[in-house]
Amino acid sequence: MNHMDKREFIKTVGAASLCTFINPLDALGFNLLNTQNKKVLILGGRGFLGPSIVEAFLTSGYQVTLLNRGKTNPHLFKNLPIIICDREKENKKGLKEIPQKYKDTYWDVVIDTWQKSPKSVADFLDEFKGRFGHYHYISSISVYDKWDKKFIVETEPLNPLPKSPKTISEDFRYAIRKTFAEEAIRERINNFTIYRSHGMRDFRVGGLGNPDAEPFWPVRFYRGGTIALPYEENHHMQVTDIKSLVNFILQCSIAKTYGSYNVAYHPTPFKDYVSSLIHATKVPEKMHWIDGDFFIKNELIPYKIVPFWRQKPKGFYHFNVQKAINAGLVNRPMVNMITDQINGYKSRYPNDDVQFGEIINGKQVKYYSAKKEKEVIQKWLNR
Ligand SMILES: NC(=O)c1ccc[n+]([C@@H]2O[C@H](COP(=O)([O-])OP(=O)(O)OC[C@H]3O[C@@H](n4cnc5c(N)ncnc54)[C@H](OP(=O)(O)O)[C@@H]3O)[C@@H](O)[C@H]2O)c1
Repeated sequence: MNHMDKREFIKTVGAASLCTFINPLDALGFNLLNTQNKKVLILGGRGFLGPSIVEAFLTSGYQVTLLNRGKTNPHLFKNLPIIICDREKENKKGLKEIPQKYKDTYWDVVIDTWQKSPKSVADFLDEFKGRFGHYHYISSISVYDKWDKKFIVETEPLNPLPKSPKTISEDFRYAIRKTFAEEAIRERINNFTIYRSHGMRDFRVGGLGNPDAEPFWPVRFYRGGTIALPYEENHHMQVTDIKSLVNFILQCSIAKTYGSYNVAYHPTPFKDYVSSLIHATKVPEKMHWIDGDFFIKNELIPYKIVPFWRQKPKGFYHFNVQKAINAGLVNRPMVNMITDQINGYKSRYPNDDVQFGEIINGKQVKYYSAKKEKEVIQKWLNR
């Protein structure tokens, strides 16, 4: 893609997403010219996280090519070169069908958003061996074996693994897939960066049209009124802001920063998160800080029903992100992430009609309803 095409393309991406990506590296002191003519191959790129990566790399002057099956969100990035490839075909069949010109290309950067099959991660690395400069993999803090202590760092033991999968179709639970994929990377290359994210948040949602994917607390504060909140000593939450993560990926690409990193905000007191929610919305009519045990007694169970609240294991919402911070991760103010989430929600549901906790078409929507919240507040006041 030449320069003019790139500018043309950027114009079509949409102001909402672009405004946050204008010169993301300027603040970090990088010379944008370093990125010109550098080729990036994004494996995936049209789902939940991928589009933010694509936009950020384009805006920073890279030449971006996508690799996917052309099924998910085909309307996105129509002007970009795309390699149609099904990574789920056994015996590298999909990879082998890739046109020779792409196999002969040297990719300065490859970003793999894959989460399904660890074997397909290994297959890609084997097939493209020596054809890329820096491989980036989006992983998860679920790769750690034990979460029984606070401030887990990158050198803590990872999940014990069964025998390496021989086929794509061998299925494992999410944490094991991620751990296997990481192992496949470490066994094959040194020029990689692995990002262990912790519950990513963005203005996009994974699973469009699914109310369960919508962010409970930002929507609740956006609605205002009288709000019930669980009160518990030392209640912290932790989450990964996608824009901060993406800027970190960019920075690691430019600085050739390798290794594995926990990427999230520092563990954040829940009250500070609430302050950001208020800042992003408006002061609610009233907030009732209700004893956590009272919440639980009334079926408002941490994590399962009430997001960003979990009492066990001890290490949950307490991962150590200092290594990434030292390597240049800059987390945006949380209020910016929340504002993006609310704007995303409003664009999907302009009538603000997601009914948390209610039964819709025979299925209960996640979290809890406004009616339930009112009842619990009343019981708390009458106790
Ligand atoms: N809240 C969270 O923490 C959270 C939420 C969601 C995801 N994640 C993680 O974030 C990572 C990125 O996921 P994402 O959905 O955001 O990625 P993405 O890159 O935005 O989207 C997934 C991409 O994979 C492609 N794909 C699917 N099946 C494929 C196949 N068989 N062969 C080739 N390409 C295929 C899809 O395109 P086609 O369908 O057209 O092939 C799509 O472009 C994942 O590793 C996941 O674990 C975390």
